[in-house]
Amino acid sequence: MALKVGVVGIQGIGSNHARCHKKDELSNLVAVCDVVKARAEKIAAELGVKAYSSLKEMLAAHPELEVVDVCTGGFENGGWHYEPSMEALTAGKHVLVEKPISNDLQEARDMVKLAAQKNLYLGCNLNHYFTEPARQAKQLMVDGKIGEPVYCLHRMGFNGGEETYSSGSGPNFDGFPYAHTKAFLAHPFSIMRHFCGDITHIQAFMDRPASRRKAADLMMSIASVHVRFQSGAVGYLFSSRGDVTVGLGGWWSFEMGGTKGSFCIENCVEKLTYFPTPKPGQSFGLGEQPTPEVTNTGVKDFGMTFPARIHAFMEDVTNKVPKHKLRASGRDALATLEYTFAAIESCEQGGELVRPAALPTLKRDVIDS
Ligand SMILES: NC(=O)c1ccc[n+]([C@@H]2O[C@H](COP(=O)([O-])OP(=O)(O)OC[C@H]3O[C@@H](n4cnc5c(N)ncnc54)[C@H](O)[C@@H]3O)[C@@H](O)[C@H]2O)c1
Repeated sequence: MALKVGVVGIQGIGSNHARCHKKDELSNLVAVCDVVKARAEKIAAELGVKAYSSLKEMLAAHPELEVVDVCTGGFENGGWHYEPSMEALTAGKHVLVEKPISNDLQEARDMVKLAAQKNLYLGCNLNHYFTEPARQAKQLMVDGKIGEPVYCLHRMGFNGGEETYSSGSGPNFDGFPYAHTKAFLAHPFSIMRHFCGDITHIQAFMDRPASRRKAADLMMSIASVHVRFQSGAVGYLFSSRGDVTVGLGGWWSFEMGGTKGSFCIENCVEKLTYFPTPKPGQSFGLGEQPTPEVTNTGVKDFGMTFPARIHAFMEDVTNKVPKHKLRASGRDALATLEYTFAAIESCEQGGELVRPAALPTLKRDVIDS
């Protein structure tokens, strides 16, 4: 039976989530709320559900809600995630929260802690790896076709250039030098961790180009981050917010190399290429290599990641998966925030090496067989 869902915060992303729930067979969208009630009323009328002006009212009117989907924004796009998430968890509801889990580390740690204490699911909309190329790439790893991880190279950011630069970032970003870092790096860090595991060491440089400086725009829009994973593999992330147009691979590319093969995902949802290492007896000169295997999904629309990720959360909650097996969990999101804060610290220390704080111990559900 479909789980009863209420969505909090109904602007661009909340409306998107509400429409995804409406179409998802595992969701029974019951209500939406927004402090600007007209926003909730508009989507409620479109989708045939109830509208409220606060989560408190929505929970009081619908004690039967099982899942609360938090799509609020706030400073650095994460400043208003804590209160509604904590309120919903306290009321005994499972929570899906948008990324970043919060713009504040202690708040994020408290959210993960409360969900564990209440034995509730806390998921985060780390939607970028709910794609066909990412699924197939993970399968290559499971099938032993990548081997021991050696490196990853990740580039993710909004394409642009100085001629299209505009300083109109809005109140969530204006005056916050690390708004891009906190609001956005949850995504690339989630990808790097999804494929390569926990990060133990971080060095970062961040800056902004002259076009931003001239406009007195404080945002550190360019991030260059070098990491070491627990496995011993190394990784590199480049991210920007509209200051450059990235070449090969487009706005989103991820390459990972191991001792048995490498893969590269281009344009997030579109293309996966597998590069096998030479087999015994094969020898290649410089400039030659085994023939790569290309899978082109024909999909270009990044928007497909939203229904796919939301469905995965609803599936995990419906199937009552052990909490530690929840995909893109609150703990996974906390990891990305720990890395983000470590990167900021490194940047502020001129690129010093920083070790992100350890994550809370992963407890195995007793029911997991
Ligand atoms: N996963 C992704 O790919 C992706 C993409 C873009 C944005 N996001 C995230 O989605 C979130 C929302 O983005 P947006 O652009 O729609 O934000 P927004 O600020 O435009 O809208 C947030 C809405 O929440 C409402 N709100 C705030 N606090 C509330 C509360 N306590 N109770 C009820 N309503 C409340 C506001 O009135 C507003 O209508 C952000 O956290 C952002 O980082 C995720």
